Amino acid sequence: MSIAVFGCGYVGMTTALTFCELEHDVVCVDADKQKIELLQKGQMPFFEPGMKEMLNRHLQEGNIRFTQEAEEAIKASEIIYIAVGTPSDDDGSTDLSFVEDVARTIGRYQGADILAVIKSTVPVGTAEKVERWIRESQRHPYQVDVVSNPEFLREGNALYDALHPDRIIIGAQSKEAAKIVHQLYAGLDAPVIHMSVRSAELTKYSANAFLALKISFINEIGRLCDAYGVQVEDVAQGMGTDQRIGPHFLRAGIGWGGSCFPKDTASLVHMCRRAGLKPKILEAAREVNATQIAYYLQKLKEMLGGLKGKTVSILGVTFKPNTDDIRDSPALAVIHALHDQGASVNVYDPIALHRVNVELPRVHKCVQKERLFAQSDAVFLLTDWDEFTHLDWQAIYGQMRTPLVIDGRNALDAPKLRHIGFTYYGIGRSHHDGNCPKDEKA
Ligand code: UGA
Repeated sequence: MSIAVFGCGYVGMTTALTFCELEHDVVCVDADKQKIELLQKGQMPFFEPGMKEMLNRHLQEGNIRFTQEAEEAIKASEIIYIAVGTPSDDDGSTDLSFVEDVARTIGRYQGADILAVIKSTVPVGTAEKVERWIRESQRHPYQVDVVSNPEFLREGNALYDALHPDRIIIGAQSKEAAKIVHQLYAGLDAPVIHMSVRSAELTKYSANAFLALKISFINEIGRLCDAYGVQVEDVAQGMGTDQRIGPHFLRAGIGWGGSCFPKDTASLVHMCRRAGLKPKILEAAREVNATQIAYYLQKLKEMLGGLKGKTVSILGVTFKPNTDDIRDSPALAVIHALHDQGASVNVYDPIALHRVNVELPRVHKCVQKERLFAQSDAVFLLTDWDEFTHLDWQAIYGQMRTPLVIDGRNALDAPKLRHIGFTYYGIGRSHHDGNCPKDEKA
């Protein structure tokens, strides 16, 4: 089929390339001229493993193209996917202005009946608004169907997730429209779950919020493990092998960031409040996440005897590995707090240092990680890039002023580092038992 995808970010590009792989013809539309020009040349405006190669293959095969011309793209397509950004407003509500722009553009230019599908993460009730915006902008009363088809891809694994989904969710009022969207995915081996549009919209938020609270839960347990000298990974494994719980998203650490969990949990809290409900669990998950950074900083401060005048070397600025995305990355909050408390900060990241220029003008960026450690008082790992586990820690030990490692992702080999002579801290990774609170010791 011929599909127009509006929005050339992670979601739009992954959606577009998935449909190319499924042998549809795709035209991608974005208002950003620079982005379109890059993509036309087969270059990526962001880093996502495998995406550039797949893009170039489909450019060569001629089943993907990029344009700023919305009218031509709409008229040439049977289905329009909306995959534009839905940023958060200060009160946690979702800014739907990009979605509204696309909807009105569809209405203005449609030359036949149209099927619009929402891929962007949008609050419950948005599909109804999109239908209204399209109708309000129409020049002729063509038929409009709006379907919700949320995405569940993780940055860094986006193409794999999109091509091997656990499930495909289709929320539609019209059976005919649902059938067409279902057929688009013929070729993928995944259960397709049909539901109402509103159910699909809420499913997306609930899935993300549940994953976020699973992480916050293990992080709270991690603090408890610190207090009682318990190994959090043992607890996570012991819990996670219960099939009802599952092993995923139980890695304790500095907390969740990125463009999804912070924004989506805020939006869900906002939706609850608008409905007169108290979002207690969601708020607690957000609070644990927000305070996790202070918790780690307190550990660092105690271990260094204060932060003023100290030099801290940061490993990783992205919110997770295999992406150059630093949106809402815990690393940014840590670096700001270190500066505020009088420490100097050196930073290394394998691919996202160029993004740090704008966000953190005061940090010292080390293009070569070997230069990061000299005269450091502490190393603070904030992104679990694979290469950090293979560093020559013996050599690093010799370069540092104080051999202290704070492992914000529980990614390093703690016994090995302790054996070298480092003082090592990872949440719930104390190396001795019986570190109970005082009144328990009696
Ligand atoms: C998340 C969801 O996992 C996707 O299913 C969803 O489609 C996507 O949001 C979205 O809404 O677009 P993403 O934000 O790319 O994907 O990254 P995740 O892999 O979920 O990681 C989010 C954060 O949680 C990262 O900062 C990561 O380091 C942290 N995390 C993850 C942990 O701290 N512990 C874990 O066990 C897992």
